[in-house]
Amino acid sequence: MYSEKVMDHFNNPRNMGEIENPSGVGTVGNARCGDIMRMYLDIDDSGVIQDAKFKTFGCGAAVATSSMATELVKGKTVEEAMQVTNKAVAEALDGLPPVKMHCSLLAEEAVHAALWDYAKKRGIMIEGLREPAKDIGER
Ligand code: FES
Repeated sequence: MYSEKVMDHFNNPRNMGEIENPSGVGTVGNARCGDIMRMYLDIDDSGVIQDAKFKTFGCGAAVATSSMATELVKGKTVEEAMQVTNKAVAEALDGLPPVKMHCSLLAEEAVHAALWDYAKKRGIMIEGLREPAKDIGER
């Protein structure tokens, strides 16, 4: 049912934890399943994501997708990080069962929420970024 990559990121999540004084931090949840994800980003002066960490209270696929999302955004500019969609995260994990696609959406939204916080603090706009919903189940 799950790919080897999903199982690997679930069993050995990358970048789990917090960043002290992050450039941006965002929390999103899905009230339907009750899962919550918090994403921390450390972004340098040229807008490159130097570090990303996450904390997820949720299902195995939510852990695996947050782990993969942190791996995908690290080293990218904030604009490039906007391309890390839920589809990109799921593809990088060699796919997710259809009922688990919403877990990857939580990962995308958590990255966006952290970027939103960063943009707000810096007083900048990031193209294509909109204010994240606290509960993505409402979307
Ligand atoms: Fe909701 Fe996985 S079941 S995020």
